[in-house]
Amino acid sequence: MWSLAYIFTLFGMSLAAASQAPCIELNDGNKMPVVALGTGRGTASESASVDEVRQSVYWAIEAGYRHIDTAAIYFDEPQVGQGIADAIANKLVTREQLFVTTKLWNDKHRREQVVPALKESLGKLGLDYVDLFLIHFPVAEKEDGSPDDVDYLETWQGMEDARQQGLTRSIGVSNFNATQIDRLIANSNVRPVVNEVEVNPTLTQEALVSHCQELGVAVMAYSPFGFTVSRKNPDAPPPRSDDPVLVGMANKYKKSTSQIVLRYLIDRGLVPIPKSTNKNRIAQNIDLFDFYLTKEEVELINRFNKNIRVIDPVDWKDYPNYPFWEY
Ligand SMILES: NC(=O)c1ccc[n+]([C@@H]2O[C@H](COP(=O)([O-])OP(=O)(O)OC[C@H]3O[C@@H](n4cnc5c(N)ncnc54)[C@H](OP(=O)(O)O)[C@@H]3O)[C@@H](O)[C@H]2O)c1
Repeated sequence: MWSLAYIFTLFGMSLAAASQAPCIELNDGNKMPVVALGTGRGTASESASVDEVRQSVYWAIEAGYRHIDTAAIYFDEPQVGQGIADAIANKLVTREQLFVTTKLWNDKHRREQVVPALKESLGKLGLDYVDLFLIHFPVAEKEDGSPDDVDYLETWQGMEDARQQGLTRSIGVSNFNATQIDRLIANSNVRPVVNEVEVNPTLTQEALVSHCQELGVAVMAYSPFGFTVSRKNPDAPPPRSDDPVLVGMANKYKKSTSQIVLRYLIDRGLVPIPKSTNKNRIAQNIDLFDFYLTKEEVELINRFNKNIRVIDPVDWKDYPNYPFWEY
């Protein structure tokens, strides 16, 4: 049986209060909380207002989250910034206690575009710096959405510029496959601290996760619930939230199946990014640090893998550097 202290030591974490996520140390020495609030609105209901993001960021900080994930393309950086400002004004936290991640969109991949793009994000967020800035996809697009031929190695030079100018503490990537990560590391001065990719029970990404972890690149897991939560696709693969394997674990640990899925990711050394705009579910999604799954239970959930993506940008299949040809 693994002890909590052993698990945290294994992944370089320090122990924290029940509703506050511990931190991992990134390869540049900065520390990152192991649960982030997702603010991407791809899964928001059609009736939802964008201001719900401001409210959910505030509720999240109140519930103990110290890591917020946003992106230029979510068009919610102003609301994220307002939620943060409200929390700071009400003395829930200081800026230094928060870890804010944002991302560069595909049409700003030329080196000279990167720093201005980050400055624009910072202006919207109302912040002087972010903690982590990611290349959202290795794919470059023109402003009209047609493919562009900018190499992500050039983009990375712009990311290094942004870091050097103190606009971001750390830099990383998102949606890079293993070959792209290797090529980036072999041809740059600064190693990415993070690769943010989709990981959940139907897309377990074991090879990519191990590869990144061996290179000291932490993996953030987006769409962490996979198809366990309601998705529009009626043909979505199992498991759903009522799956007997997940329900069995939920009963054993007196948690919800959503908490089991998040804990499964944490027990693999990943940093899940659950999105919710519901106060109770926001709190539930960080109430994860008074239990852990056994190695066998993690393996059992790995067996659901079907290499099926929630986020599958098929329109970009013919674009240079499309990443999802390999897992
Ligand atoms: N880097 C990238 O390319 C990329 C791509 C996609 C996403 N992301 C990031 O990852 C975040 C999460 O991904 P996602 O939004 O696709 O998926 P997700 O977090 O796996 O799922 C969100 C859905 O789950 C529901 N939910 C949340 N907590 C729940 C709980 N405890 N029980 C039952 N249902 C629950 C939410 O509804 P309610 O809001 O009603 O609770 C929402 O419908 C995004 O917000 C974004 O920040 C990054």
